Amino acid sequence: MDSGTERLLTAVQDLSRARTLDAVMEIVRHAARDISGADGATFVLRDGDKCFYAEEDAIAPLWKGKRFPMSACISGWVMLNRKAAVIEDIYADPRIPADAYRPTFVKSLAMVPIRTQDPIGAIGNYWATKRMPPPETVRLLEALANFTSIAIENADLYASLERRVQERTRDLAEANHELEAFSYSVSHDLRTPLRHMDGFLGLLKKALGPGPGAEAARLLGKVEDSVKRMDLLIADLLAFSRMGRAEMRSCRVDLAGLLSQVKEELSEDIRGRSVAWNMGELPEVEGDPDLLRQVLANLVGNAVKFTRKQPQAAIEVGAAPVKDGRAVIYVRDNGAGFDMAYAERLFGLFQRLHLQEDYEGTGIGLANVRRIIKRHGGEVWADSAPGKGATFYFTLALPAKAR
Ligand SMILES: Nc1ncnc2c1ncn2[C@@H]1O[C@H](COP(=O)(O)OP(=O)(O)O)[C@@H](O)[C@H]1O
Ligand SMILES: [Mg+2]
Repeated sequence: MDSGTERLLTAVQDLSRARTLDAVMEIVRHAARDISGADGATFVLRDGDKCFYAEEDAIAPLWKGKRFPMSACISGWVMLNRKAAVIEDIYADPRIPADAYRPTFVKSLAMVPIRTQDPIGAIGNYWATKRMPPPETVRLLEALANFTSIAIENADLYASLERRVQERTRDLAEANHELEAFSYSVSHDLRTPLRHMDGFLGLLKKALGPGPGAEAARLLGKVEDSVKRMDLLIADLLAFSRMGRAEMRSCRVDLAGLLSQVKEELSEDIRGRSVAWNMGELPEVEGDPDLLRQVLANLVGNAVKFTRKQPQAAIEVGAAPVKDGRAVIYVRDNGAGFDMAYAERLFGLFQRLHLQEDYEGTGIGLANVRRIIKRHGGEVWADSAPGKGATFYFTLALPAKAR
């Protein structure tokens, strides 16, 4: 293989990786000169009815940055006629605007169009001594021009895709932001009138004095309960919405340490109950410790709650084998369990499968868990059967070093 062909192959390889027009021009201006052995090369782009000399690589300045009418330069002729021009003596050729060449070193040239159908540019090669470049050289330059046209189309495509992705991402972020702001202000603004209701209910009770009918007192109590429940729902919703807005930290997290804190906090809930804890070894992971503590608090809290009717509750927290390079943590209990047909729904806001009378709650915990795990790039899923207990799994990134 001669050196021109070899150089063409390298250029083709480089072009296949070029993502921008600038990168394409950078590759081509050097490659053209190497392939032709010329003293200079230019990269010309069609700009409406002008030829724009966008780039060059030459022993002395040519026309970089200049624009000429299509009808008054050889690159224009090449594009309009959709074929190469090979000129041994430029001053003897009527197609050449001699004045533009006089300040330059150029005596001979070979110019090829980029894309023969509807050309978008041209590649010029110039010699300081008179010569007739051989047909093989012109063929190699034409091949380079063909690959250049593909590379430019790819770069255009890539740029428009990139633009679209950016636009979509921005739209999504905006929509998401609006939604967050909305739910935040809703939950925030809803609580004030609720507080007032609670306050007035207290006053009303006092005003009625000790003598109201038993029925009225019972109804007032019901209203009060509802107000308290709504306040709890809104408080949870507010926490959920805050979580979506909070910045996320990322550091090495000791899950075992978090777990013992969570267990400690739950000790009040299991007073007088018989709970067998089985704590496996937990790995260190990468994430936000405050958020991951919420995950454990929700899942272990559920395990404690839904085993309440078991004479002997068993709760197990451990690590399953690493999956796709990520830690898999599970929380298992022998409690009420649920029908797997609803497993996905449980992770939605306010979704509950159990009666408020049996197991109290707001149905926000698992939605929070999923949101936090998703923000960490992980997954969460459940496995259960009615009366057979439940296992919740989630994945998290291992710390950088342990991977
Ligand atoms: N460990 C579990 N065992 C049985 N059911 C569960 C368990 N964890 C969650 N669930 C079901 O998923 C629902 C949603 O859970 P969650 O979002 O934490 O809300 P909450 O705890 O406030 O009820 C629960 O109401 C329950 O029906
Ligand atoms: Mg819960």
